[in-house]
Parts: sequence; C-alpha cells; structure tokens
Amino acid sequence: MKFNDLIKKRYSNRKFKDMPVEKEKILEVIEAGRNAPSAHNFQPWHFIVITNEEGRKKVSEAYPKNWFKSAPVIVVACGNHDESWKRDDEKDHCDIDIAIAVDHMTLAATDIGLGTCWVCAFDAEKCHKILELPENLEVIALMPMGYPLEDKVVEKKRKAIDEIVSWEEYKKS
Ligand SMILES: Cc1cc2nc3c(=O)[nH]c(=O)nc-3n(C[C@H](O)[C@H](O)[C@H](O)COP(=O)(O)O)c2cc1C
Repeated sequence: MKFNDLIKKRYSNRKFKDMPVEKEKILEVIEAGRNAPSAHNFQPWHFIVITNEEGRKKVSEAYPKNWFKSAPVIVVACGNHDESWKRDDEKDHCDIDIAIAVDHMTLAATDIGLGTCWVCAFDAEKCHKILELPENLEVIALMPMGYPLEDKVVEKKRKAIDEIVSWEEYKKS
C-alpha cells in the first residue's frame, strides 16, 4: 500500500471483533513505535501492553466507555520524564516523542489489518494509580487495538490545505 493510502485508511476504530490479537502482530506494532524518532534519540517511552481481561477492565476505570473496554489489547503509552529531552527553556519533549511513537503504531496496525484509536480523555491520576506507576512515568495516551468489527473506509473530515498552509510567510487564513 502506498504510504498516503495507508494514512487515509487509518481511522479511529471504536468497534472491535471479540477476537484476540496474535502476539507477533502486537510486537510488529510496537516495533514501529520503537523505531520512531525522538528528541536527542532519548526514547523516553515505555509501553504497557494489556491483553488480559482483568487488566483491561482495571484500566477502563480511568476511561469508562464500553467500546474501550471491548478492545482485546490496550497499549498504555507512557512517557518517562527522567529520560526525556528538555530544551534550554525547559520545554519537556516527552509528549511529542510519545505522540510520534503512537502515531507510528496506529499506522503500522492499520497496515496489518488492525484497528486503533487514540485515547487521551482518560482520568490521568486514576490511570497512574491503577497501574501503580512510579512518579517519573506519565500516561500520555491509551491505544486500544484489535480487529475492526467492520471493514470500512471512513472519509476524513479535514481542513482544506489553504486553511492550514501559508507560503513563505505567515498569513492568517
Ligand atoms: C491526541 C488525541 C487524543 C484523542 N483522544 C480521544 C479520546 O479520548 N477518545 C476518543 O474516542 N477519541 C480520541 N481521539 C480520536 C479523535 O477524535 C480522532 O482522531 C479525530 O476525530 C479524527 O478522526 P480519525 O482518527 O478517524 O481520522 C483522539 C485523537 C488524538 C490525536
């Protein structure tokens, strides 16, 4: 598949088949995240892969939606603030690094027929507590994953190019 077609094929899937995902496939997705770029190549990420029902139920307490609970895999994408690069003005690049890795993973998953969805609207404090994480780890995103219930193509609702690009200098659209 051409890369731009893959990008268009990915969509936020919120309906999963009640079917486990093979470990090799999960690892293929994680491998895409592992190969993502990061500031200074510090790779300040840690991915907790939850496949057992009890664990998924527990994490769902931080994002209590039925569709989320039904995902056979939940990847908890954590950022390690002790390892992330900070610019001279102290800007911590943890969020950016983890976002790139998760984006790589959503695309890799799409490529092998899996559906994913970004989830950030969870209760961060609760999630941290449930997973018994150390202070330096922050849950940046949850990525439920599984085989999509439907085989569908979702049309992207996006701003037009003219609205988001200015050439040579900033122009308000
Ligand atoms: C950083 C981020 C956070 C998001 N958080 C959630 C979320 O908490 N729950 C949810 O259902 N979708 C969430 N989404 C999915 C967006 O709603 C979705 O990407 C957007 O509507 C575009 O649709 P598409 O992914 O199908 O192209 C999130 C997406 C991103 C990039």
